[in-house]
Amino acid sequence: MPHVVTQACCGDASCVYACPVNCIHPTPEEPGFGTSEMLYIDPSTCVDCGACVSACPVGAIVPGHRLTDEQARFTDVNAAHFDPTGDGATRFPVDPARRLPLAPIDKPHQLAVDSPVSVAIVGSGPSAMYAADELLRQPQISVTIYERLRRPFGLARYGVAPDHLSTRSVMRLFDDIAGNPRCDIRLGMTIGRDLTLDDLRERHSAVIWAGGAPTDRRLAIDNASAPGVHSATALVGWYNDHPDHDHLDIDLATPRAVVIGNGNVALDVARILTTDAESLADTSISRHALSALRSSAIDEVVVLGRRGPTHAAFTLPELIGLVDHGANVVVDPDDLAHAPVPAADDATTRAKIDLLAEVAARTPRRGRRIRLAFHRSPVGVDVDTDGRAAGVVVAHNTVDLTGAITPTGTTDTIDAGLVLTSIGYRGIAVPGLPFDDARGVIPHSAGRVVDDGVPVPGMYVTGWIKRGPSGFIGTNKTDSAETVASLLTDLEAGLLPEHGRPRRRRILSRLG
Ligand SMILES: Cc1cc2nc3c(=O)[nH]c(=O)nc-3n(C[C@H](O)[C@H](O)[C@H](O)COP(=O)(O)OP(=O)(O)OC[C@H]3O[C@@H](n4cnc5c(N)ncnc54)[C@H](O)[C@@H]3O)c2cc1C
Ligand SMILES: NC(=O)c1ccc[n+]([C@@H]2O[C@H](COP(=O)([O-])OP(=O)(O)OC[C@H]3O[C@@H](n4cnc5c(N)ncnc54)[C@H](OP(=O)(O)O)[C@@H]3O)[C@@H](O)[C@H]2O)c1
Ligand code: SF4
Ligand code: SF4
Repeated sequence: MPHVVTQACCGDASCVYACPVNCIHPTPEEPGFGTSEMLYIDPSTCVDCGACVSACPVGAIVPGHRLTDEQARFTDVNAAHFDPTGDGATRFPVDPARRLPLAPIDKPHQLAVDSPVSVAIVGSGPSAMYAADELLRQPQISVTIYERLRRPFGLARYGVAPDHLSTRSVMRLFDDIAGNPRCDIRLGMTIGRDLTLDDLRERHSAVIWAGGAPTDRRLAIDNASAPGVHSATALVGWYNDHPDHDHLDIDLATPRAVVIGNGNVALDVARILTTDAESLADTSISRHALSALRSSAIDEVVVLGRRGPTHAAFTLPELIGLVDHGANVVVDPDDLAHAPVPAADDATTRAKIDLLAEVAARTPRRGRRIRLAFHRSPVGVDVDTDGRAAGVVVAHNTVDLTGAITPTGTTDTIDAGLVLTSIGYRGIAVPGLPFDDARGVIPHSAGRVVDDGVPVPGMYVTGWIKRGPSGFIGTNKTDSAETVASLLTDLEAGLLPEHGRPRRRRILSRLG
């Protein structure tokens, strides 16, 4: 039986390069790689060699005959990517004429530079670790990673949910990278406080900023700062032992919580708040969160989407993971009745709606539940006489196939003593570097930091602070590969500054 990619996929494409018959798609060279919710194995060409299994850093690939009940649905998810209409006629998106007999061989470029080169990386999240890995393939290069926290790996440690054990195991790969003798990792060093960016530029030939998008987007509605309203960023940090959030004063003595936004972070938060606390006891969850969850009074978590199921921000693999791992999920059939029908070849959205319809048709179980609610925009937080959150006022919408929202004019209030905003993350400006305030990113061209269109010598950027807060852990691998390729090109061209002094600044300014 062919091998199958399951929901733990973090999209780093390591399997693509391991597969001898090129049956895992989309590859980084193909359209759709950056936006694909996971990678898929073509069951008609997989020869069951197992090479991809050992290449995968998170154990996401399973031989067909070893799939658990919770993973079984992924057989169809993989197959539907190549045959979305199910008639065997459409081979999408792989054109057989362009199918290579062998996967591309990733041969490292040998640098035409003899002298030792030192590169600083700010941050130790996935983008930093993938950049370090790529740089360390060159024997002349040594890397120093500066991380503000006392424990490394950014959101791989402090974001990924504690019950997602296989995804968290990517930290073993990062540990291996950090263990390279040419990699020095300095924890508890905040650049901008303990050392300045200029200090780094004095000490290293190049600096890659990989500081992530550490804050959350703010919701501009009435009473958004009332007690009882928190950001998902804070709650995730609280349950993952992030030192900035371990003192979060969160009150779980309320029967209902509302999570505003329905991305994968919202699903994580809803799942952690409704999972039996004892089943989390053996995970990395913080002791303070475990203790609070043990005495939680929460019965229902409402995950609020302003648009409909067709445009839900959560991904199909995460929805399958939620439903098939036994979460008590509730969907109102009315929400599906009004969902625009996705295109015939949009296998992912169709499967998402089919699964939501399957859930909506079930008789709800007793006990703690997650209610996926759609077509409702938050317009304010209702407060009680003490000024604490008591509910969320929502305006009902209709949504067309393009995703455009039209309010129906109806509003109501969902009672809730805990309100969590999960509407995305946001990067913050770095003193001394240009910043695109509208997008919350550092402007760049192929990873070179640019100021008014002109590259800043020796300064590079990668990860969420480069492309914005979206994508999986593995998305940062291709992102960092692009940045490192630009850095190596500049190095070979003699364009990197030496101890802060650019060698050929005018030539650099011509690079795009
Ligand atoms: C809650 C949550 C859960 C997620 N779960 C998953 C998942 O299950 N699977 C998946 O594939 N993807 C998941 N993701 C997405 C994934 O975590 C991101 O794609 C990835 O972490 C982005 O990497 P990054 O290196 O850009 O940023 P980060 O991981 O945020 O790393 C940035 C690092 O820079 C450090 N830093 C910042 N400023 C400074 C400074 N001035 N000096 C020194 N250090 C600094 C920070 O402390 C941090 O360690 C999740 C994201 C979130 C928010
Ligand atoms: N397991 C995993 O693989 C995993 C886990 C966690 C995170 N991640 C990744 O990390 C990234 C960030 O995830 P995320 O959940 O923070 O962000 P996200 O996927 O961008 O979702 C943000 C949600 O907030 C909603 N929203 C935005 N502004 C709003 C407003 N003003 N009012 C109401 N709703 C609003 C969005 O609705 P609209 O769609 O209508 O704009 C969307 O539902 C994603 O790429 C995600 O896939 C992956
Ligand atoms: S089992 Fe072998 S042929 Fe099948 S996807 Fe994995 S590497 Fe490719
Ligand atoms: S996590 Fe990486 S190696 Fe594993 S299945 Fe996904 S893309 Fe392939």
